[in-house]
Amino acid sequence: QAALPEGYQLRALRRSDFDTGFLDCLRVLTTVGDITQQQFEDRYSWITRQDGGYFILVVEDTNPSPPRVVGTGALIVERKFIHNLGSVGHIEDIAVAKDQQGKKLGLRIIKALDFIAGKTGCYKTILDCSEANEGFYVKCGFRRAGLEMAHYI
Ligand code: ACO
Repeated sequence: QAALPEGYQLRALRRSDFDTGFLDCLRVLTTVGDITQQQFEDRYSWITRQDGGYFILVVEDTNPSPPRVVGTGALIVERKFIHNLGSVGHIEDIAVAKDQQGKKLGLRIIKALDFIAGKTGCYKTILDCSEANEGFYVKCGFRRAGLEMAHYI
């Protein structure tokens, strides 16, 4: 498994990540909207109250000053009744800044989220992605399973 480039580190999202590049990473993925710092911090507080159920990782490039968040990914741990109270990890919102893609940052984020999933007792991790990203997730050890359906409210 490739190491992170020199000066890059993988860490948990922090309350202070409102303007460090985290939201810009997510903008590579989809619409984020014009959220305020207060809204960001309120959502961060809610997430951190989900004791052991919600993990957001970021990759930070500490070479520039100030450091810049260049990648992110989330794991939501679903605790079930089935499979003897089994847990399933849902991998969500994986995004790497455009100018940082191809450096194995995405792979490292997935591997780290899978590691956390294992530690929290998940027997599998699952995710939805587009056909265009299938190859990336295959390289990360995933395989096609099932069919996604959605109902937009
Ligand atoms: N198709 C096929 N292979 C790919 C793709 C792809 N779309 N993207 C990367 N790979 C390969 C790489 O070539 C590399 O292969 P190698 O080991 O043989 O060299 C391997 O997968 C690992 O690639 P990384 O360098 O870790 O990929 P990167 O850091 O660029 O991250 C990501 C990939 C997250 C898809 C990035 O391109 C991105 O942010 N895209 C835009 C947002 C997005 O689509 N996110 C995923 C949404 S799905 C979800 O969140 C569950």
